[in-house]
Amino acid sequence: MAINYTEVFRNPNAVEKYAERTYAPGTFASIVSSRQAGWLRGFVPNAFGMKPTHHDFACGTGRVARMLAGMVAVSHGYDTSEAMLQKSRELCTPGYAHLVDPGLAFPDVDPSRPALVTAFRFVLNVDLYLRDQLMDFASAALPDSDAGLLLVENHGNTDSLRHLRKRFGRLDASMWFQELSHQEIRDLFARHGFELVGMQGFTLFTQGCYRAPWSWFSKAADGALASPLSKWATDVVYIARRR
Ligand SMILES: C[S@@+](CC[C@H](N)C(=O)[O-])C[C@H]1O[C@@H](n2cnc3c(N)ncnc32)[C@H](O)[C@@H]1O
Repeated sequence: MAINYTEVFRNPNAVEKYAERTYAPGTFASIVSSRQAGWLRGFVPNAFGMKPTHHDFACGTGRVARMLAGMVAVSHGYDTSEAMLQKSRELCTPGYAHLVDPGLAFPDVDPSRPALVTAFRFVLNVDLYLRDQLMDFASAALPDSDAGLLLVENHGNTDSLRHLRKRFGRLDASMWFQELSHQEIRDLFARHGFELVGMQGFTLFTQGCYRAPWSWFSKAADGALASPLSKWATDVVYIARRR
């Protein structure tokens, strides 16, 4: 990418925009986020025999730790932006926030518990080098197949309706528009000794479809179909474990 992704989120204006506009109540992002919270809060107790230690890579404002409040033994968030972590503290995120240098995040592992590693809204807009930083971190937290699970969000699945926007829609030049396919994710996982064990979709439609007059239809259809049609969802969370 031409821009320095890590630097962008160190700017307090970008942090305000992310927390107060992108995730303002009622926005597309916040509706998708609350669906993710519902799913996560069902998934984690089913997937783990005991509450796991949560390690949130690129935790930002602590969105995932707040979704998992009470479902994990403790959350550790790791991020390169003090401004994002400050916003996370303002939002009363549970657990510990660790300010790290790029490539130097290292999980605070508790060997007596399984680990849950999450990376939400990160892989889509970064280059391979940063994706590798995430996977090195996940490998340290999850040294073998019994150590726990990795959850990675892709909010720009290539095999989704969103792809049509690239082909036929108007794109704002100031906006990032990346796409990431299931195969690219599989390849990333495989290169780091992980295997994909599942995926969960949260919306088939795009942001524009959540505006009037068809918003009621998109929300209702997503509520019923995004999960069974996960493979074609715009926003997907992948579940992976170490081989
Ligand atoms: C789009 S935000 C996502 C925040 C959070 N995961 C969420 O889903 O709301 C991306 C985050 O990645 C962080 N970041 C950027 N480069 C990083 C790196 N090299 N290591 C760790 N975090 C990084 C940014 O500071 C920012 O907080």
